[in-house]
Amino acid sequence: TRKIIIDTDPGIDDAVAIAAALFDERLNVRLFTTVAGNVSVDKVTKNLLKLLAFWGKEVPVAIGADRPLLREAINASDIHGSTGMDGYEFPESKYELLTKNHAVLEMYKVLMESKEKTTIVGIGPLTNIALLLRIYPECVERIEELVIMGGSLGRGNYGILSEFNIAADPEAAKIVFESKIPLTMVSLDVGEKALILPEDRMRIKKMNKTGDMIDHLFSKYRGGSLDTGLKMYDGCAVAYLLAPEMFEVKESYVAIETQGSLTAGATLVDLAGYLGKEINCRVCVDIEEEQFRQWFIEAIEKCD
Ligand code: BDR
Ligand code: CA
Repeated sequence: TRKIIIDTDPGIDDAVAIAAALFDERLNVRLFTTVAGNVSVDKVTKNLLKLLAFWGKEVPVAIGADRPLLREAINASDIHGSTGMDGYEFPESKYELLTKNHAVLEMYKVLMESKEKTTIVGIGPLTNIALLLRIYPECVERIEELVIMGGSLGRGNYGILSEFNIAADPEAAKIVFESKIPLTMVSLDVGEKALILPEDRMRIKKMNKTGDMIDHLFSKYRGGSLDTGLKMYDGCAVAYLLAPEMFEVKESYVAIETQGSLTAGATLVDLAGYLGKEINCRVCVDIEEEQFRQWFIEAIEKCD
């Protein structure tokens, strides 16, 4: 099994990624860390605790950054609802799962204390991970891979050229991309093709309680049309760990724009090498759409 830490801001599509990771035997989720993103860090932490109570899973949860490094937090409750996961009856959260220490220290401990290297999956803004790399640079050696959902090859979903997770904290993203960590970027372009169609939703709804819960959460989601398909952005990051053959990957230098008054948070994927810089990222540029739908159905089937 592969040891992983999930850094997250649930968030409806985060919930899908978390489900897929928790119920797959090939992954051993050692720690969750939360970060301000879709909604505040308090709200996303509560959401995560609710999800864990729903599945009866006991994984430690460490609360992380309550705002980006330099900027004000963006609030995406217009897309994810006011709590980030509105209107489902969850069982009582187990607050005992919360660690005493901050997310950055807990990540450091997991990384340094385990024999094998650990993979980090980042499906929110990169604030916690940037802090980890700045405070404990020695842990780079202990990270097998950092797989993030974030950035885009072309257009954005938050700004014209910027994807939400990078746009929320561009300075953090810059630190991470320049850290020499083994980095894989599951881009927005791929997430937009990872579509779950209405018939897939009907199928998972009837399949088990996880399918029913996810169907409910998506009925409140305002980030896309239920008719043309739902985009499983964060789910793709976990799919990449479990079924990398579904993805087309290119190695590239990726620069993070932090200055542009209209373009801060853009990921400049320098496939042609204009900047003459060393490769710093594996970029997922495409996905087998049908295979992904199949993978998704099978992943949710396991969540029982
Ligand atoms: C990313 O932003 C959030 O809304 C999603 O959870 C995902 O992590 C997509 O741009
Ligand atoms: Ca997310």
